[in-house]
Amino acid sequence: MTRKKTLSRFGVSLDGDLLGRFDAYIAREGYTCRSKAIADLIRKEFVADDFAKGATVAGAVTVVYDHHKREVVNRLLDIQHDHGDIIISAQHVHLDHDNCLEIIAVKGLGAEVKLLADALKAVKGVKHATLSVTSAGR
Ligand code: NI
Repeated sequence: MTRKKTLSRFGVSLDGDLLGRFDAYIAREGYTCRSKAIADLIRKEFVADDFAKGATVAGAVTVVYDHHKREVVNRLLDIQHDHGDIIISAQHVHLDHDNCLEIIAVKGLGAEVKLLADALKAVKGVKHATLSVTSAGR
């Protein structure tokens, strides 16, 4: 179901220094207008708020590990099977001779997504793991 969106305008009063910093920030980030930058910042806060409140989020867990350590591979697979209900897909990339990169797309309650990411991160032999969350579409 799609809801018709209406655009609303509102005025914002900002301290000149803050506005200067904001304009420099959005220029660095590649924005060409303030409206999109402000909307993105608001959504970013909402995503963080959803995540903190345990609402549904979507995102990706990325894991880098040494595949020569076979027990790491098995452990990572076991954990993924334990959390199968929130995993949408997983992509495996052979980075180089030693390292593998796994990108795991997830959608679920913030607390469950964090639990999965923490479990993967804690596996001995995992060199680096990150969790990136975004809005589940709202
Ligand atoms: Ni590999």
